[in-house]
Amino acid sequence: MIKNKKILVVGAGGFIGGHLVKRLLENDNSIIASDIKPKEYWFQDFDNAENHYSMDMKEINNCRKIVKNIDYVFNMACNMGGMGFIENNKAECMQSVLINTNLLIACKEEGIKRYFFSSSACAYNKSKQQEVFIEGLKESDAYPADPEDGYGWEKLFSERMCRHFMEDYNIEVRIARYHNIYGPFGTYDGGREKAPAALCRKVIYAKENNENKIDVWGDGKQTRSFLFIDDCIEGTLRLFESDFSEPVNIGSDEQVSINQMIDLIEDISKIKKLKRDYQLDKPKGVRGRSSNNDLVKKVLNWSFKIKLKDGLKITYEWMNSEINKHGSNLSRFTKS
Ligand code: GDD
Repeated sequence: MIKNKKILVVGAGGFIGGHLVKRLLENDNSIIASDIKPKEYWFQDFDNAENHYSMDMKEINNCRKIVKNIDYVFNMACNMGGMGFIENNKAECMQSVLINTNLLIACKEEGIKRYFFSSSACAYNKSKQQEVFIEGLKESDAYPADPEDGYGWEKLFSERMCRHFMEDYNIEVRIARYHNIYGPFGTYDGGREKAPAALCRKVIYAKENNENKIDVWGDGKQTRSFLFIDDCIEGTLRLFESDFSEPVNIGSDEQVSINQMIDLIEDISKIKKLKRDYQLDKPKGVRGRSSNNDLVKKVLNWSFKIKLKDGLKITYEWMNSEINKHGSNLSRFTKS
């Protein structure tokens, strides 16, 4: 794994960015960490990194200021959330294109050798995700282009921007298409939370308040695959060190319905079976999605390890202790 390098992590105050910084520090790298969020909203904040709070990388001058004497850059920054956020904030999501574009320009000016872009399964063509159980999405399924509106278009466009900076200016790029990453230090309330955290939260509240039902968006039959954060970081670092510059899935191929995921969470919480109030008017996204991991196995000789039931248990226990600490106040993980 990368050692003794000077690395810029943009979006370091966010969920994946924070875990990445932790791991890179453990490997004796020197970290410059930046995020648009003020200090109090960083999900994780390490004293042994050089932290830049409230720094907006949509401004090219901020990019130019910070991309100096750096070996590598990880762009983990974008305005994002679960379906509840991305379906209702398309213009906001698309503006993340400025972060990637300005960072790439600054990297080109400074002669940065290698650049990582965090893309998403939302880049895949929607017509391939209309059935409940689908074959896992292969990397080639992004084209012909018809990604998720707003957020997905930004990701697909920015992937291409990376590719052309590599072709024209020799910046080595690495691009991961993440599939619904979850785990401790993720957002679990406030509107940006994804399904694993939202449903753990609902079960925790039902248990604490002796309620017998929870709200579920959609009919519960829609499917996804979810990747635990430790696998995400491992896959990211392996991809970064590989010589593969095309987009690669970093995801799990353990495809479950939302109902099956709720069954797992109920087992973990040891609550009796809850009634499910299916809310068909809430944001649902695609009908079925999973990751095909043939390419990642081939180019990285690696695939995810942590089963959903094990990752959910760790996440549930972490959330339970956070909710006990914060009570009904919104957590600090709610700010963009
Ligand atoms: N967020 C949320 N909250 N989703 C719920 C809930 C709930 O309480 N109940 C059921 N769901 C359903 C949603 O309706 C959707 O069909 C499914 O769970 C998954 O929702 P999310 O986890 O919010 O989003 P996603 O999987 O469609 O997309 C997420 O992952 C992508 C990468 O795979 C988003 O975070 C995207 O931004 C990301 O690119």
